[in-house]
Amino acid sequence: MSKATILMFDSGVGGLSVFHDIKAKLPRVNCTYIFDNQAYPYGELAQDELISRTCRYVSQFVALYDIDLVVIACNTASTVVLPALRQLLSIPVVGVVPAIKPASQRAHIGVGLIATPATITRQYTHQLIKSFATDTDVHLLGSTALVDMAENKLRNIPVDLKELAGILEPLNGNIDVAVLGCTHFPLLKEEITQVMGDKVVLVDSGEAIARRVEFLLGDAVGDENPKYNIYCTSEPESKARLQASLTKIGFSSLKIHPLLDV
Ligand code: DGL
Repeated sequence: MSKATILMFDSGVGGLSVFHDIKAKLPRVNCTYIFDNQAYPYGELAQDELISRTCRYVSQFVALYDIDLVVIACNTASTVVLPALRQLLSIPVVGVVPAIKPASQRAHIGVGLIATPATITRQYTHQLIKSFATDTDVHLLGSTALVDMAENKLRNIPVDLKELAGILEPLNGNIDVAVLGCTHFPLLKEEITQVMGDKVVLVDSGEAIARRVEFLLGDAVGDENPKYNIYCTSEPESKARLQASLTKIGFSSLKIHPLLDV
């Protein structure tokens, strides 16, 4: 078996939830994880800027390192950036989009799509709902505060359950399945279940993405001693606490690699 390196991209630590699922399926794949914290949160960034930053940052890394496959581990970016990025690169690009289809297949009462403010307005998202949730009510909830909570949790700052309950309140009683349509949210699964109750099933795209990556890489995933490198675009908040969590997951020390002008 030969070696393979995947490049994972997000605005912050959210993509680590997808990394978790990929690592479970492909424990011998190398990973370079990059996040554009300088422009965080992506859920509030102008679409043109998001597309241009993602394309520039990802293609810079692909040109610098030996990358076999890219995972855009961010729903907010994936819903708009994939066509442009696929035009730029000659390696496979896997995107993460809200798991509307499996969620609506499981729902009896209704589906809640919990995502960033940008993702819930995207044409791509509304097309997914139109195509795959024909007989199901889908309630949309966009929140950046939830994204911040996940960032804080990785910095060892506990989640305020009262605040979380307040954010999720509009979904109460209306849904039995919640789509975690932002890669940050699976990091808050336990807390979301504590607040919504275990009768609400939480669905995310992580496992499906891991299966797709496995399929695309084929046999090329055999590093005995895989390396997990991590970079960001600017000095991160509470770096030492964040590093402690990253080290636990197996990542090397976080390095700043600014977005270069082209
Ligand atoms: N993790 C991202 C997503 O899946 C974006 C969060 C943000 O920066 O707003 O949508």
